[in-house]
Amino acid sequence: MMRVSRRAAVLGGAVIPFAQWFATQAQARAPRIRRDLSTPGGQADLAKYAQAVKLMMAKPEADTRGWMFEWYIHFVRGDRTKAAEIARVYPGPSAGRDLALATWSTCQAHSGQNEDYFLPWHRMYVFFLESVCQKLLNDPTFALPYWRYTQPNQRSLPAPFRVVGSQLYRPNRNGPVNNGVAIDQGINPTPINTSSLSRTVYSGNTGFCATLDGGLHGSVHVLVGNGQGMGSVPWAGNDPIFWMHHSNIDRMWASWNKNGGCNPTDPSWLNKTFTFPDGNGNSIVAKIGDFKSLGALGYTYDTFEPGPPVGRCPPLKLVLGRLPHVALIKRPIKLDPLGPVSVTLDLPPPELLKGDAKMLEATPRTGKTRLVIEDLQAQVQPGVLFAVGVASAPGAKPKTVGHINFFDAVPLDHSDDKDSHAAHDRTDSDPDDDKAFSFDITGLVRKGARPVITLTPVGKADARAQPVVNGFRIVTE
Ligand code: C2O
Repeated sequence: MMRVSRRAAVLGGAVIPFAQWFATQAQARAPRIRRDLSTPGGQADLAKYAQAVKLMMAKPEADTRGWMFEWYIHFVRGDRTKAAEIARVYPGPSAGRDLALATWSTCQAHSGQNEDYFLPWHRMYVFFLESVCQKLLNDPTFALPYWRYTQPNQRSLPAPFRVVGSQLYRPNRNGPVNNGVAIDQGINPTPINTSSLSRTVYSGNTGFCATLDGGLHGSVHVLVGNGQGMGSVPWAGNDPIFWMHHSNIDRMWASWNKNGGCNPTDPSWLNKTFTFPDGNGNSIVAKIGDFKSLGALGYTYDTFEPGPPVGRCPPLKLVLGRLPHVALIKRPIKLDPLGPVSVTLDLPPPELLKGDAKMLEATPRTGKTRLVIEDLQAQVQPGVLFAVGVASAPGAKPKTVGHINFFDAVPLDHSDDKDSHAAHDRTDSDPDDDKAFSFDITGLVRKGARPVITLTPVGKADARAQPVVNGFRIVTE
C-alpha cells in the first residue's frame, strides 16, 4: 500500500477576510457569555484566562500566539521601535514577520488616528485575543470575563492579579493598587462612573466614543498602572488586567447600544479594516461593519449597564454642521504637578453660543452646555488624574465636574515608524475628529460672566511630566 506522505500543516500565513474566516470557526456556533469576574462563573473564566496567559507567556517571542506578540499589537514597548523589534525577532522573511508588520502598534485611536475607531479597534483586539485563548485552551466556548469596576465593591484590582510572581501580576502598577486599595482611592466625585452612557451621539469629540475613551477608559488606565504599565499606551498591553478592562469597555459600548445609542452609518467607518492574527497565525482582515454589534460575533455579556434611553436614529453626523463652539483659550496652559492652576476664560461664553444653522436643523437642542478640554501633552505619564473645577466667575466657589488624564498624551517616541504617528505630530486639523475631554457644565456659566477653570492634580504628579493643556472651548448642544 502506498504511504501518503503528508507535510505537517504549515502554521499560518494566509490572509483571510473576517466573514469567510468566522464561518469556519467553532466559536461562531457556540454562543459565549462574557461574565463579571466577581461572579462564580466569572471566576472560573478568570482561572482559564490565567492558564491561557501562562501558555502565551511561555511561547517564544516569534510565536504569533505568544504574549509579546499580543502586547505589541497594541503598541511596541516604549523603549524600542517597531522596526528594530521586527528586525530582532524576525531576522528573515516569514509569515510571523508579515503578521507583525501588519499588526504591531496599530492601537486606535491612541496615536492620533480618527477617534471614532477607538471602540471597534479594541473590540477586535479583545475578540482576537479571546480566540487565541480558545485555541491554546482547546476550548471554543471560552469567553473572557470583565472587570466591573464601576460597582463600588469592585474598585480594587481583582485579587488574582495581585499575587506576586503569578502570571497575572505586574510590578508596574501604582503602589497601593497592588496592595488592593481601591483604584480611585476615595476621589470624590469618582472618575470610575458610567456618565458617558448619557451621551446621545457616537461620533465627534463630545460623542459617546470619545467621552468613554477619555473618561472611564483613560482614568482606569492611569489609576491602575504607571508609565511602564497600564498608564501608558506602549506598555499597557503587557498587563493582563488590560483585557479585563477592555472587555468591560466593550460591554459599555454594547450597553449604550442596548439603551438606544446608534453607531455611525457612514461607509468610511463601516468599511475601515484592521488586521489581527487568529490562533493559527493567519492574518484576519476585519471591517468595522463586521464588529458593530455583538449579535453576529457569537458572544454577549451576562449583564449590561443601565443608562438613560439615548435613542436618536439615524445617528447625527457632526460633519454636517459644527456644534457651536469657539476656542476660548488656544494656548499652552502649564499644569502644576503639586497644586491647582486656574484659567479665566477669555470671553464671556453666552455671546459666542449662537451656533451653526445647519447643526441647529439637524440637532434637537438640549440646551446643555459642555466644557471641552483638548490637546493635552506631557513628557512622561504624570501618574495622577487632574480634577476639573469650574466656577461661574472669578472668586466664585468651583465645582468639580470631572477629571482629565494623560494616558495617550505622552509622545510615543517611535518617530522612525512611518506607520505610527507620534502624539505630537498629527497632521489632520479637524478639531471634531480629535480626542478631547468634555464635561457637562450646564448652569455653571452665566451670561456675561467669565468662568474660571481650575485643574488640580489628584495626588502628587511626576515632576518630570510637564503636563500642558492647549485648548478650552465651551459648546452648547
Ligand atoms: Cu488602546 Cu485601553 O487602550
